Amino acid sequence: MDGLQAGSPILVLVLIAQISDCHIRDSIGMFGGLVDTSETLARVVEHLNGLNPAPDVVLATGDLTDDGTEIQYSMFLDLVAGLEIPLLPLPGNHDVWDAFRSAFTDRLPDTIAEGHCSYVVDSHPVRLVGLDTLIPGRHDGLFHEGHEEWLDAVLQMEPDRPTLVFTHFPPFTSGLTFMDLSGLDGADRLRSVLKRHPQVKLLVAGHIHRPIQTTIGSTLVSVCPSTGNQLGLELDPMSGSAVDEPPAYQLHCWDGDCFVTHTATVWEGRRMDLSDFIADVHRRAAAGEGSPRS
Ligand SMILES: [Fe+2]
Ligand SMILES: [Fe+2]
Repeated sequence: MDGLQAGSPILVLVLIAQISDCHIRDSIGMFGGLVDTSETLARVVEHLNGLNPAPDVVLATGDLTDDGTEIQYSMFLDLVAGLEIPLLPLPGNHDVWDAFRSAFTDRLPDTIAEGHCSYVVDSHPVRLVGLDTLIPGRHDGLFHEGHEEWLDAVLQMEPDRPTLVFTHFPPFTSGLTFMDLSGLDGADRLRSVLKRHPQVKLLVAGHIHRPIQTTIGSTLVSVCPSTGNQLGLELDPMSGSAVDEPPAYQLHCWDGDCFVTHTATVWEGRRMDLSDFIADVHRRAAAGEGSPRS
């Protein structure tokens, strides 16, 4: 029987949370006057811990710190110490490889790619491939021939397993021109790899500090907003702003056939409990009454 039955939850074989662009800082920094990124990350962690069902894993897709210093990684680790879900970190252009690798020794897999901090986690119903395209000391990224060789080889190993690729730089033009200009060189090359491997059902990224979706071949591509400040939605090439829209994260639900992606904002809004209404919806569905307006 097609459709959801009364009382039956959506089938979720794996529930993947994503946080991005936390930009933990120990000084005022460029956007420090706008958002206290430690305070907002703490709230996101609390929110994630309260989710039912709990996510199986949290992907942290780069710019975890603002400057990649030891003290900032130490602050980040303190903030996620209470997270009750395993966290897989990936660096972004604000991170620094050596400090990143030593901060996350206990959380990174034993096997990391040669020359970049990419890796594979095979312990979930969906294969998780972390792709690092950071160029040390620069704000733009690069998907070079070495990345292509590594990613092709990894994906060729398991062509029939549904796969999620997580990375920092999105491999498409977002329309926020000032971010696109410091985006991913070699994005065409990455898009070609994705088109050769249709088992990649979803690619998730960060960097743009906004929720954005597109497709590449048959792969859904999603950008996660920041746990700190967002960027204003301004498509005028000469405009741009940082804004204090609420901290946010994404949830990617895999049902064995496709991903459903939710964007959640974390803020102190008002809440109306709908339990009585929901109980009535279930009762009507169980009785085959559908959902008449009454
Ligand atoms: Fe960022
Ligand atoms: Fe970034």
